[in-house]
Amino acid sequence: MKIVVADRDGVSHELDAVEGWRVMEIVRAHGVKLGAECGGSSVCGECRVRVAPEWQSKLHEPRNEELDRLDEHLAGDDERLSCQLIFSEELNGLTLSLPDAA
Ligand code: FES
Repeated sequence: MKIVVADRDGVSHELDAVEGWRVMEIVRAHGVKLGAECGGSSVCGECRVRVAPEWQSKLHEPRNEELDRLDEHLAGDDERLSCQLIFSEELNGLTLSLPDAA
């Protein structure tokens, strides 16, 4: 299974993904630069990712805590906190890009 991530330079990375891991953990485990100062607690907002349109409906709805954090960071409608996305078989091929500024 895999996740496809375009980094901040626009370079695309195809990453092996493990079911049950947070998307944030998968991206970072492969060395793609993504902040996560709070360690996945929905506090820092550094792990924001842009989700490709075709994948947005396949993700669970964000909880209030995540929505608050996205609002604070003036995130676009296509952005999510990758620490709140748990990878599963249904997300095989999930396509993301990193926003310009974390
Ligand atoms: S790692 Fe801090 S909000 Fe996701």
